[in-house]
Order: sequence, then C-alpha cells, then structure tokens
Amino acid sequence: MKKTLLAALAAACLGALPSLAETPTKAPADPHEWWKHAVFYEIYPRSFADSNGDGIGDLNGITSKLDYIEELGVDAIWIAPCFPSPQVDFGYDVSDYEQIDPMYGTLADFDRLLAEGRKRGIRVILDFVVNHTSDQHQWFLDSKSSRISPKRDWFVWRDGKGEGQPPNNWASTFGGPAWKLDATTGQWYYHNFYPEQPDLNWRNPAVEAAMLDQTRYWYKRGVAGFRLDAVDTLYEDPDLKDNPILPGTDNFGRPRQDEIHNKKLPGVHDALKKLRKAADEYGAVLLGETWTSDILELKKYYGDGDEVQLPMDFMFTMVNKLSAPDFRKQIAAVEGAGVWPVYVISNHDIVRAWNRYGDGVHNDDVAKVMAALYLTLRGTPIMYYGEELAMENNDPKRREDVKDPVAQLGWPLEKGRDGERTPMQWDATANGGFSNATPWLPVPATASTKNVAVLSKDPSSILNLYRKLTALRRSNPALREGEYLPLAESDPNVLAYLRRTKQDAVLVALNMSAAPHTLRAGLAAKGVKESGACTLLATHRAAGSSLALDSIALQPFEVVVAELARR
Ligand code: NOJ
Repeated sequence: MKKTLLAALAAACLGALPSLAETPTKAPADPHEWWKHAVFYEIYPRSFADSNGDGIGDLNGITSKLDYIEELGVDAIWIAPCFPSPQVDFGYDVSDYEQIDPMYGTLADFDRLLAEGRKRGIRVILDFVVNHTSDQHQWFLDSKSSRISPKRDWFVWRDGKGEGQPPNNWASTFGGPAWKLDATTGQWYYHNFYPEQPDLNWRNPAVEAAMLDQTRYWYKRGVAGFRLDAVDTLYEDPDLKDNPILPGTDNFGRPRQDEIHNKKLPGVHDALKKLRKAADEYGAVLLGETWTSDILELKKYYGDGDEVQLPMDFMFTMVNKLSAPDFRKQIAAVEGAGVWPVYVISNHDIVRAWNRYGDGVHNDDVAKVMAALYLTLRGTPIMYYGEELAMENNDPKRREDVKDPVAQLGWPLEKGRDGERTPMQWDATANGGFSNATPWLPVPATASTKNVAVLSKDPSSILNLYRKLTALRRSNPALREGEYLPLAESDPNVLAYLRRTKQDAVLVALNMSAAPHTLRAGLAAKGVKESGACTLLATHRAAGSSLALDSIALQPFEVVVAELARR
C-alpha cells in the first residue's frame, strides 16, 4: 500500500476508534436474551475474598469486590455452591437448599450481594446441585431411617447382589464403587460421586416437584438463573444393568466402563425441560454442566429452545493445546450446529488455561491470545476468576497437603482440583490480599506480581487486555451481533476470522505460535471489498494504527483486533 494512503487511513483510523470511556457501561437491556450479550464470571466462593478473617472466602467478600467485577466488564456472576454443606465436596454436597452456609454468611448477606449487584448491573447466578444432596440433608436422613420412610424412594435404594455385594458394577466418578451399604436397613444406596453425595431419585414425582420448588425459592429472591450441576447423571437404568467394561484403566486404577446405564439417559431432557419451564416463569437463564465433546450430543441440551440456554464446558475445555486448526474445528462445529455458542476455557474442575494452553515458556502471552479468542467470538463467554490475571495452577506437592478428596483417593495419579482453586490474588501483601488468616489453600509465590493491584497499573497487562476486550464487546456492533466468518482456513498457526454485520466488520487475528507469521486473510476471495483496517486493540502494536489487509505480519503470539475501513 502506498505511504500516502496509509497515512490517510491512519488519520481516519484514529478518528474512528471508539473511546472506551464513552462506551455504554452495560449491554443494552434485552429482558429475554440478555445472556446472549453477557460476560459471565465464575466465582469459587471459598477462594475469592475473605471478609471475616477465617481463611475462607465469603459472600461479603464477593460484595466488597463488585466494583472490581464491574470494571472488568462482567454482567453476571455464577457463584459455586454457597448453601449449608458438610463441605465434603466443598459445597457440592448440599444439606439445605434454602439457606446460606454460615461460613459464607447469611441470607441477609446474600440479599445485600444481590442488591449491590443490581446497582451495578451485575446479575447473580447460583449453582444448583440437581443430581444429589449431602448425606446430611434431612431428606436423606429421613430416607435412610427405615425402609418404610415416606422419603425412602427419594433416593436410589436397592438390595445387594449377595452378601457384601453391591447391586451392580457401576463405579463412582470419584473412585470406588457407586454404592454404599447402609447397615441399619440392609440396603445399598447409589452415589455417582462421593458416598456423602447420595443420588436423588428423579423418577419420583415428589422429588422433581421439590427440586423445582427449590429453584423458585431463589428466583423469587432475585436470582437470575442457575448453573445446573452434573445434569447428565440425573437418571439411572431402573433395571440396574451392569455397564460394559472397556479396555484400560482409569485414574483410580479401575477397569474403564462405558457408562451407558447411569449417564446421559433420555430422562435427563425431560427434567431439563421442567427446570427450564420453572426458569421461564421468572425470565431466568440456565447454564448446564453438560460435559461432552460431541456436538450432536451438546445440541440435545438446547432441546427445541426449551432446555438450557447455555450448555457449558464443551468448547475449549476439551482442547488441551494451543492449536489454530483445533480451535477452528471446534468453532466450526458449534457454528454449524445452528446453536448459540458458549465459550469456556477453564473452571474449578480442570487445570487452569494458563497451564493447559501454555508451552512452558510463553504462557503469559498465550493467556492473552486465549483471552482475545473467547472474548471476540460469537457467543457467550464464561470466565473463571483469576483468568484475567493469568493465574496458574498450584497443585499440591505432597499427599498430606491435599484438600480435594478426589486426590486423597487417587494420589499420585490423580492430583485433584486444589490447584485450580487457589485464592484470588488481589495485591502483593500477605496471602495475595485474599485473607488476613492462613488461606484454606496456599497462595503461590507468583501472586506477588500477578495480582490485581500490580496488573491494573500496567497498561499492557493481561488484566487491562481483559478490560479492553469486554468494553469492546459491548460497544462494537460487529463483536456484539456479527456473524462469524473464518479466514485463512488452512493456516496452521494463525487463527483469523471476521465478525460482521451488514454495516460493520471486525477482523481478529491470533498468532498461536512462537514464531512470526504473515496472515494472508484472503478477504477478496470471500467477497470482502475492504482493503484496510484500523487496529482497535492489539498486543504488539498501537491501537489506532492502520493495517493493510492483504498481508498482516504478526509477531509471535500477537493479537490484533481491527475494524475494517470502508472504501
Ligand atoms: C461437578 C462440579 O463442578 C464438581 O466440582 C463437583 O465435584 C461434581 N459436579 C459433583 O457435584
């Protein structure tokens, strides 16, 4: 491109740039489908902010950080379970669905969190553990009390196959058999997870009605929706057929099973439809924990628009390396399925994105590439706390330090989930500013530099990149509404795409390699007439700089987001 044209473009380019200060502070109100334009943020409450100095995070801690969350550009927070619980599975063993665990605060604290969130335009989503309760929930205590208890059939009880033999070969996801013998009544109960997490019997209409009522209780309080935990495990084969055995062993050293008789049974979808109907009474949204790497299976969880709106954990959590072709394939699968995409790169059950996608040398750069990826795609992104700081997994080094029972059972093969659940890193003071007391999990040494206070001051930090990306998503019509058009589809290193509406178009170019690469986007062949663009946001060049689109020279791990200039 001639120098004069570039200069002209540059001038126009700077003028065209949106000022972040002028962008709307919230996505325009859209009462029905607000979640399509929302950025979600998962908070693991034990680890976010400790307001009362016991080493464990709490609701008032979260409330005290709402300004930070607002500034990050988050529209809704999903709080992992904060209900009363013996904490065997850190809250995923609920003993009362209608209260707050005293370690996290009170119902009044929760109401205050909702109200403060509302003031800032931040909705609150709770985590509903639909498949099982705690063995200390009154329902289970009643059920266990005798074979003729009115609540007996609320859980899955069966006779053993013989003396000391469980009813079938089903294995618990968390190690060991999935059945536990109750000595008092002489029967076994089913638990897909820990023995302290007995499965509810969703075939019992009374269970279904009670569980739907629990959701209404929170909707009435002002909750904007639920993340539904472990939905694929809701139903079991009533005849208790043995699962077929597969070759090899799992992380616990057990023979692998094809879990066809206790996972993903068709009844799951009936239950989801009912949960959705209850949600619709209150205009609420359902995020589903729908682990699957199969797009057709994922599609089922949307139903006919009458199951979950946001099935999660399919997209990038299944890809464990930084790979432009692999991501392109995943995106194409979901785009081709005609469903509303959801993008998640990590959560409280899997190793943090920094470790999974990093090459061991450039992990901080890779973390920026990943941020740009899932925040510029068409769909709903769900962040995990600390991703915006490029937080790293901090796995326990010794068995005696392990908190997650999964690792107690499976050590050393299974390291458990402590590593991805360490405290949020707020500043460089003791314990990363998370707590005055010793935190329940250790804060890594990297917290002295990777923390909110330090990164806020650095204009080129990942935290500020996140802030710019979320602001851009709100203000730029192509990033908000535009279709996804893949570019340079055979490029092994650079993932590139356009997001465009009839009027606007934005190019995203992500160099996923440690070497410089030139992107030949081939826009003309795609019928795109524009030849120049203005950089809106980038990691290795100034915002406002002009780009000639036919050939873009990218630095290693460079991110470029640029608005196409009209001819
Ligand atoms: C999925 C949750 O994300 C995980 O943390 C929990 O242990 C299991 N479900 C059991 O509730």
